[in-house]
Amino acid sequence: MSAPVSIEFVAVDFETLKATEGRIAVLIAPEGPLGTVVRRLDRQIKGALGRAVESKVWGKLKPGQSMDLAYPAGIAAEAVQLVKLPKKATVEEARKAGGAIGKALGESGVTVLAAGQTKAADVAMGVALRSYTFANYLSEKNSDRGAVTVMADKPVDAGAAFAPMAAVADAVCFTRDLVNEPANVLTTSDFADRLVEMKKLGLEVEVLEEKDLEKLGMRALLGVGQGSESPSKVVVMQWKGGKKGDAPFAFVGKGVVFDTGGISIKPAAGMEEMTMDMGGAGVVSGVMRALALRKAKANVVGLVGLVENMPDGKAQRPGDIVKSMKGDTIEVVNTDAEGRLVLADVLWYAQDRFKPTGMINLATLTGAIIIALGHENAGVFSNDDKLAGALLKAAGAEGEGAWRMPMGPAYDELIKTRLADVKNTGGRPAGSITAAQFLKRFVKDETPWCHIDIAGVALPPKETALAPKGATGWGVMTLDRLVRDMLEG
Ligand code: BES
Ligand code: MN
Ligand code: ZN
Repeated sequence: MSAPVSIEFVAVDFETLKATEGRIAVLIAPEGPLGTVVRRLDRQIKGALGRAVESKVWGKLKPGQSMDLAYPAGIAAEAVQLVKLPKKATVEEARKAGGAIGKALGESGVTVLAAGQTKAADVAMGVALRSYTFANYLSEKNSDRGAVTVMADKPVDAGAAFAPMAAVADAVCFTRDLVNEPANVLTTSDFADRLVEMKKLGLEVEVLEEKDLEKLGMRALLGVGQGSESPSKVVVMQWKGGKKGDAPFAFVGKGVVFDTGGISIKPAAGMEEMTMDMGGAGVVSGVMRALALRKAKANVVGLVGLVENMPDGKAQRPGDIVKSMKGDTIEVVNTDAEGRLVLADVLWYAQDRFKPTGMINLATLTGAIIIALGHENAGVFSNDDKLAGALLKAAGAEGEGAWRMPMGPAYDELIKTRLADVKNTGGRPAGSITAAQFLKRFVKDETPWCHIDIAGVALPPKETALAPKGATGWGVMTLDRLVRDMLEG
């Protein structure tokens, strides 16, 4: 996998800085005088730094933004990157500053001068996240990244603060890799294999095969995969870091490794992006990885439904009626509304087997959520204000956009049909909400539950402050934070 760069914390030392090759990044607080080491560096490079921070360009930069001084005289470094960061920066600003450093990181590495900054660990987190690259299939790799060294006032403390963040960064990169992988590589079997690998981290991992799913009565899920050469699977990952015997919290993910739409086939333009339709499963897998890597003190189970939605002689047809594990019958009026069919059975199975204290599912479920919220916010649907509130708070703390959407029984009218208990789509009006209402049928009243529609945020069209163009891993940080705040507190 494309593991994040490793980051070392060392004491502030001018002589080392002077001799350092590669890049130097200097965190500069706009409100205060330059620190002693920064002033020494400025003298060493003949005042170029001092002139730069007097410039209009510098004045206009926002916290977290930067400018470069290239090939300065007097030091070995190839560039000095001046990064604006207030002394009392927020976590978001500190990560953004790290993002600017991570984006510029090349083969020769970087030394970050973080003297006087208390958020050195958060800056490092930004570097780790933004320097991610996915170059598995580039013959000419230009993705090698040199060492990252952070000079901090209290390097031991900063290193200790960064350790759990490094676990989360690793997990985010794991999720991004899964989402970026093409569907000929990341088949259902390959996906399952990657999860089984995580047994090494102390997770219990089980793979339920088609015959097992058949026995459980998961016809809604199996119908989606029946036109594919790749076998459908459900993978169950358990992390038992909490009190023995305590019921777990459950995460459930949609893992459609490729969504052609099936017989209700999608238009060709843009269909290649449907390699990301396993994004929900990717986030669930990443969160489980983070919990294991940082040895979280909580019981959590992650379940992913892995299928491929293909048109074929054996594929499910529009109009087919399937019976879910719960027992409800579903008229499949559109085979492209497949994610909810997968989730229906996995949600039911999660509750039936684990009696979780709460449950959150993630899915790239609807194009309609992109129409509603664009690429800035994931859509949150819930039957429980307390859980939804905790989730939105965690997302806010991690700087990941999330917005609560309405639900209500009136929307159920749109998914009624004369032929079965429910149909799998209500058409265009309130498309994301009717999808959520559909899922709610498979959630017991007593289970606090949230559905997060991540179709807009899993693979946005542009780079972000903390991710290059491509998969973001949206949600790994939020859900890791939620576990900390809600289950480990
Ligand atoms: N995987 C798609 C949703 C999607 C769209 C994800 C764009 C990411 C980007 C989902 O399976 C789907 O096809 N939904 C349909 C539902 C419709 C047929 C009711 C949609 O959104 O058009
Ligand atoms: Mn679809
Ligand atoms: Zn889909």
